[in-house]
Amino acid sequence: MADAAPGAKILLSGSTGQVGGELLRLLAPLGEVVTPQREAMDLADADSVRRTIRSVRPRWIVNPAAYTAVDKAESEPGLAYAINRDAVQAIGEEANTINAAVVHFSTDYVFDGTAAHPYRETDATNPVSVYGASKLAGEQALAATGAAHLIFRTSWVYGARGKNFLLTILRLARERETLRVVADQYGAPTWSRDLAAMTAHVIAKCEASAKGGPLAGALAAMGGIYHASGAGETTWHGFAGEAVRLAQKHEPSTRFAAIEAITTAEYPTPAKRPANSRMDSGKLAERFGWRMMEWRESLRKVMAEL
Ligand SMILES: NC(=O)c1ccc[n+]([C@@H]2O[C@H](COP(=O)([O-])OP(=O)(O)OC[C@H]3O[C@@H](n4cnc5c(N)ncnc54)[C@H](OP(=O)(O)O)[C@@H]3O)[C@@H](O)[C@H]2O)c1
Repeated sequence: MADAAPGAKILLSGSTGQVGGELLRLLAPLGEVVTPQREAMDLADADSVRRTIRSVRPRWIVNPAAYTAVDKAESEPGLAYAINRDAVQAIGEEANTINAAVVHFSTDYVFDGTAAHPYRETDATNPVSVYGASKLAGEQALAATGAAHLIFRTSWVYGARGKNFLLTILRLARERETLRVVADQYGAPTWSRDLAAMTAHVIAKCEASAKGGPLAGALAAMGGIYHASGAGETTWHGFAGEAVRLAQKHEPSTRFAAIEAITTAEYPTPAKRPANSRMDSGKLAERFGWRMMEWRESLRKVMAEL
């Protein structure tokens, strides 16, 4: 893997999160990773974001931090927009003044889920939740700053640590007789580590192209939006069922809950979710030679770590 420019600093937000935690380790070979904690850089306070960027002067700003509480966002739109849009705009504006490149993460929830195909980067967006709308606004705000940037839209992120669907299901499956899980939302689970490894790979590719010089030229050709979701597709019910099947295999004497299929209508939540969250990650494979891991394969790897 090519190194970043010698002494290059990478400013990483959200290092306590699922993706940020993996990035912290996987970006280390590429430069000095600086990880301000929330007290120093609060994304709800754009001024603290600006101050931190000015003092660190990174070559890359990698921003997996976000307001990710999808349902809570419906009643906290101000905070969701401050973190998911205003902070991202500040990151872009500051990046511009120091010629840094930005890597940002976004979501399948920028779509309404009515398409019959896996979403491509060129498909029209139409978020159906405050969270999705705030993330889309962040994408747009970053692009409008003119900063060199990459945006990775991902879906259904999970891993061995953090707050995620897999860990919740495995806990509940030990406690209950039956679990009712939505079976009419289609998408693909994405392993936080695969996403972080892809990010490191892409940064290395951009650095190889920039040859130690400014990143703007390389990113003018290679930047923009990329879909980056686990390969294959399933439903939340399919994901839960496979996870519990693997858990049962590891622990034959434990009694796990039966996984019952229900419809979205039977599980009302404050935020609406797209029925089709499938994303086509072909552009990422074509441009950067990275194929996202098939979700069953990553699930086996994650389960082996638990
Ligand atoms: N999780 C998913 O299923 C999913 C799906 C699609 C897209 N995405 C996107 O993927 C990216 C990574 O998601 P993730 O699952 O890794 O998120 P996560 O585990 O929820 O982590 C979010 C991170 O953001 C930080 N953060 C939140 N508010 C902050 C603030 N005001 N100031 C500073 N830091 C703050 C959190 O810090 P604390 O630990 O201090 O709270 C945490 O480190 C996000 O952009 C998300 O929108 C996620």
